[in-house]
Amino acid sequence: MLGVVPGRFAGSGVQVTTAGSPLDNIGGAALVESTAGVFLVSRTSATGFMALDATCSHESCTVTGADGNVYVCPCHGSRYSRTGQVLEGPAKAALRQYATTFADGVVTIAV
Ligand code: FES
Repeated sequence: MLGVVPGRFAGSGVQVTTAGSPLDNIGGAALVESTAGVFLVSRTSATGFMALDATCSHESCTVTGADGNVYVCPCHGSRYSRTGQVLEGPAKAALRQYATTFADGVVTIAV
């Protein structure tokens, strides 16, 4: 299971404070829950993040599992890469990517 981190929806983006979360470390990943949706967020570098829609493209379960660097859907076992590509079905379509920015310890997911 991925750790769950709260996101704060503020107008044009969902803001996530990285301190004290798995996103504090390069290679870390977390499930970000917000009123604007649920996202899979991973840290790719000191200032780089990858944000994906956590809604499985198969039957819309929330992708909450992790197996190493692979995201796993709990419903029927679809597996996705950290960039949202399908590694194993039944899902066929990739997870949607969102742009991110990072400043002052806060990641903003552009939604
Ligand atoms: S809803 Fe995710 S694998 Fe079916």
